[in-house]
Amino acid sequence: MEKATRPLVIVAAFVGSLAIGLLITLWLMGGLGGVTAPAAIGGPFRLTDQSGQTVTEKSLIGRPTLIFFGFTHCPDVCPTSLFEMSEVLRAMGPDAGKVNAYFVSVDPERDTPAAMKDYLSSFDPNLKGLTGAPDDVARVLSAYRVYAKKIPLKDGDYTMDHTALIYLMDKKGSFVRPFDLKRKPEDAAADLKRYL
Ligand code: NI
Repeated sequence: MEKATRPLVIVAAFVGSLAIGLLITLWLMGGLGGVTAPAAIGGPFRLTDQSGQTVTEKSLIGRPTLIFFGFTHCPDVCPTSLFEMSEVLRAMGPDAGKVNAYFVSVDPERDTPAAMKDYLSSFDPNLKGLTGAPDDVARVLSAYRVYAKKIPLKDGDYTMDHTALIYLMDKKGSFVRPFDLKRKPEDAAADLKRYL
């Protein structure tokens, strides 16, 4: 009896883990959007942009928003994503001023508003860099379910491992789905314009 049931248990466990993996993927991709996903991502926050202006969840109301979480010392993923976001904003033309494009720091220790201002001067002027006190940053990371972890480097410095999704929020401030930057800027801009 044992011999017969053990493979079944293994198969059941395997199928179960596949199902859980699929559910998590669907949830992340917004596939279960009608059920719980829109309410599950986002929430109250209070941060400061690179000009010293306060930005909160209320700033999301009335215009579509792209949010990307990263840090100015990031060697590759962040600058690439910010470049791609800049290309989309450029392709938006005059409508670029009708969307929010936020780069939220996962590294508030180093990313002061001044550091953000300096860093963002290389990208589209519509991009706003948000940072704040560590507690305030931790709150927004939790609300958006962002993973961010400090990784020590050999020289005593550190880097950050972090979620690299682009969040698309609608005019009501509700999460829609991850926004795909890996396409022509014109196509991404046309997609974003549908939410104006
Ligand atoms: Ni990065």
